[in-house]
Amino acid sequence: MLVSGREILQAARNGGYAVGAFNLNNMEILQAIVEAAEEERSPVIIQASQGALKYAGIEYIAGLARIAAEKATVPVALNLDHGTSFSQVVQCIRHGFTAVMIDGSKLPFEENIAIVQKVVEVAHPNNVSVEAELGKIGGVEDDIVVSDREATFTDPDEAAEFAERTKCDALAIAIGTAHGLYKGEPKLDFERLREIREKTDVPLVLHGASGVPDHAIAIARQYVSKINIDTELRVAFSKAIVDHLKEHPNEIDPRRVLGPAKAAMKEVARAKMRLFGSAGKA
Ligand code: 13P
Repeated sequence: MLVSGREILQAARNGGYAVGAFNLNNMEILQAIVEAAEEERSPVIIQASQGALKYAGIEYIAGLARIAAEKATVPVALNLDHGTSFSQVVQCIRHGFTAVMIDGSKLPFEENIAIVQKVVEVAHPNNVSVEAELGKIGGVEDDIVVSDREATFTDPDEAAEFAERTKCDALAIAIGTAHGLYKGEPKLDFERLREIREKTDVPLVLHGASGVPDHAIAIARQYVSKINIDTELRVAFSKAIVDHLKEHPNEIDPRRVLGPAKAAMKEVARAKMRLFGSAGKA
């Protein structure tokens, strides 16, 4: 069933677990995510990045997601990932998204607050939840590039003030994760995470969680309510296709190429749901 992002986030916050937010770009990725959620009896957030909206078009993304969510017996929210403007948020709300992120992290503090407040004003009456970002998460996600030099960690006092003034439903924090593949093992600032958690009640979001070791996720999930995974799905998808075509070089049926890719992504998503603690919560 399609539900508001807030419903999923609040249940996770109250229940002391995190829900996976997985990026979709096509039907097979979406089916892999939702089937994983069904099999694990887990709530799930599916989300569309800027690149996904450009690649598939908002109508396809919204249409596919609506069908998948309506068929699902577990709660599913559809989120805009790293929304870039007020007008894009409005467009997503019109197309039935149940959650939106407005990424004002590159703006000065007061301007970030102002854009989030504006988005909250249109989103909340439509039962759409709002995620904001404070601090700058490094790495590359589609067209959004934040270099190591630009990345800045979230200040706990600012996070508390930000959540209070914006009334956002979720806050993405920068504590050392980055979008994309890591070169070494990422070092997360758990002390900062704990301090943020102590100073505000708002559900927290960990971006760039692909490649973060399980032991670090096991700590993070005590404090965050939403964990974003994209790269690990991409890797599973692409590797399965390469492996299949190596074994069957004359394969011309797209279904036989994409079938194993979907199965591989589903296993990744299922493992994450168990790790995040959301399995069995739907
Ligand atoms: P990864 O690609 O590192 O998993 O990050 C996903 C993400 O944070 C989407 O916003």
